[in-house]
Amino acid sequence: TYVVTDNCIKCKYMDCIEVCPVDCFYEGENMLVIHPDECIDCGVCEPECPADAIKPDTEPGLDKWLQVNSEYAEKWPNITAKKEPPADAKTFDGETGKFEKYFS
Ligand code: SF4
Ligand code: F3S
Repeated sequence: TYVVTDNCIKCKYMDCIEVCPVDCFYEGENMLVIHPDECIDCGVCEPECPADAIKPDTEPGLDKWLQVNSEYAEKWPNITAKKEPPADAKTFDGETGKFEKYFS
């Protein structure tokens, strides 16, 4: 599966949503997650993210993000159409530790 990671938080550009052939993105207030049981590993969303936040879970160190994606894909609503990203998205692009500061 692919997972959404820290840099999505408060950037939430949403360029990933509409390319997904199985509509497996779910929306929280500050970020999106991918449902790991629905993702078919096609990889097309990865290069679409301007924040470079989408990674294959085969990369090392992503256990926490796999857990976050699994948990919140069950709690948050499905999103299939792009909306406006936050006006201040660029301000948060590349900031570290966003999960601890802003996750919701
Ligand atoms: Fe959707 Fe493919 Fe990205 Fe998985 S890898 S979330 S199936 S676009
Ligand atoms: Fe987030 Fe990137 Fe999608 S910032 S909303 S994973 S395009």
